[in-house]
Amino acid sequence: PISIEFDEETKIVAAHKFKIGLYFATWWALNVVFNIYNKKVLNAFPFPWLTSTLSLAAGSFIMLVSWATRIAETPKTDIDFLKALFPVAVAHTIGHVAATVSMSKVAVSFTHIIKSGEPAFSVLVSSLFLGQTFPLPLYLSLVPIIGGCALAAVTELNFNLTGFMGAMISNLAFVFRNIFSKKGMKGKSVGGMNYYACLSMMSLLILTPFAIAVEGPKVWALGWQNAVSQIGPNFIWWVVAQSVFYHLYNQVSYMFLNEISPLTFSIGNTMKRIVVIVSSIIIFQNPIQPVNALGATIAIFGTFLYSQAKQLEKFGKKDE
Ligand code: 3PG
Repeated sequence: PISIEFDEETKIVAAHKFKIGLYFATWWALNVVFNIYNKKVLNAFPFPWLTSTLSLAAGSFIMLVSWATRIAETPKTDIDFLKALFPVAVAHTIGHVAATVSMSKVAVSFTHIIKSGEPAFSVLVSSLFLGQTFPLPLYLSLVPIIGGCALAAVTELNFNLTGFMGAMISNLAFVFRNIFSKKGMKGKSVGGMNYYACLSMMSLLILTPFAIAVEGPKVWALGWQNAVSQIGPNFIWWVVAQSVFYHLYNQVSYMFLNEISPLTFSIGNTMKRIVVIVSSIIIFQNPIQPVNALGATIAIFGTFLYSQAKQLEKFGKKDE
């Protein structure tokens, strides 16, 4: 028999690659399930503020139970940690609600096409607010991202301004969330899982009064009996699925953030959107025109170019 000997280093590299691959696959799969059930819930119960609140509540509940039963270690937090977390939670809340409002008005695929433009927002915010400058290839990579998103938006059969603006606001909010999170996590002993747990809890506290103020009266006016008869018997399971999977995909992504570079993270996030766009089009049988799909492809290709330009920028800095 032929036996192939692998040296220790090869084995470690292979094990690391396997782990990263597994993380990516888990993150994307959880996200696809979340997106599908979230849309099913929104189709039956078009109250995005309240459904966003439920997903944060489910995550907070899961983590409180995990801490109480010692499945997860309770984090040691202090007032400085909470102060640093506050702007992250505000941005997370706005980004989450805005994305959910968007998905309540347009196809899941459309929301994610616009959300694939997030790198453009990242550059814009870093240039305008942080005074950063970037090499020319990076700015040029924004042309296909913005152009592709614009083409997809103008050719979208079911275009809706609230749906479009929701995805744009979500992009902007998540760029701020990522900037603040990186600052907040630096040098802290709270790991990714617990960081996200604290984030959900604070977001839940921020969002609840607003969600009740915005949508409470509408649900009240509809009447509980009507609301229940309108939603059907499986609704409760869809809510459970969307809430639990929302927490799980975010938790995995925050744990992931600890392991990989922000660059690999953002490439993974864009690839995640491709998986979500394709699977939601198949599942919800959304009609798409070739020119619409072309816009999405250009935007996603632009994100790939952006990641390449970012990598060049990183190497350039190392050489300096
Ligand atoms: C949300 O509801 O928060 C969004 O669907 C999140 O989108 P993202 O995590 O894919 O950016």
